[in-house]
Amino acid sequence: MNTLEALQHRKSVRAFLEKEVEKEKIDTILSAASQAPSGANIQPWQVAVVSGDTKAKLQQQIESEFRTEKRGKADFQYYPQKWVNPYKLRRIECGVQLYSTLEIDRKDEQARLEQWVANYRSFDAPVMLLFFMDSSMETGSFLDYGMFLQSVMLAAVDIGLATCAQASLSDYPKIIKTVLGYPQDFTLLCGMALGYEDKEAVINSYRTPREAVSSFTRYFS
Ligand SMILES: Cc1cc2nc3c(=O)[nH]c(=O)nc-3n(C[C@H](O)[C@H](O)[C@H](O)COP(=O)(O)O)c2cc1C
Repeated sequence: MNTLEALQHRKSVRAFLEKEVEKEKIDTILSAASQAPSGANIQPWQVAVVSGDTKAKLQQQIESEFRTEKRGKADFQYYPQKWVNPYKLRRIECGVQLYSTLEIDRKDEQARLEQWVANYRSFDAPVMLLFFMDSSMETGSFLDYGMFLQSVMLAAVDIGLATCAQASLSDYPKIIKTVLGYPQDFTLLCGMALGYEDKEAVINSYRTPREAVSSFTRYFS
């Protein structure tokens, strides 16, 4: 698979086979992704690979916190506080596409909530990746980190695995750092589900649309 093919094949997968992911494959993915560029080669990434009993404990704590207090607080503001178009519309369409694929009615709040909660189990993927960086890092490191994250996802596709990046997990930094023993002042950027795609699952059956290149590009000469 070449790079263009990997870019085309990568998609967010939200249902996985109950099949363990070999540690060698995870090492291969992270080793490949560590080739990502970073300003001054500072390589700000710190990755937790969570599975088994630790994953079960972590997701249980997050889910029970969510069900009682409803919302945690992330270490940084990911989405705009005030949504404007076209981003607002794209976000709405993204949700509509997901719930209509699952035939969940817009007004069925319980079903929507349960689908959201699946985030906290990384959609039952065997592996939950969590991405941290040192608190001394600045905005530039978010650029570096984005390149690393996409590299993880492309390398996963290349060796037959599937992923879903998860900002949802960054809503519970305190629990996650406590359970995994990371310093509380580290920044938790996001999580990621990793596993083998369940190709029969309806939720994995759709692809999200993209704007035409001409709509976001201007050529100057
Ligand atoms: C940083 C980041 C965080 C994301 N967080 C979530 C999440 O918490 N839950 C989820 O279901 N999808 C999440 N997504 C997936 C996006 O919804 C998805 O990438 C987008 O709709 C485009 O679809 P595609 O990945 O299938 O191409 C996230 C994606 C990124 C890049």
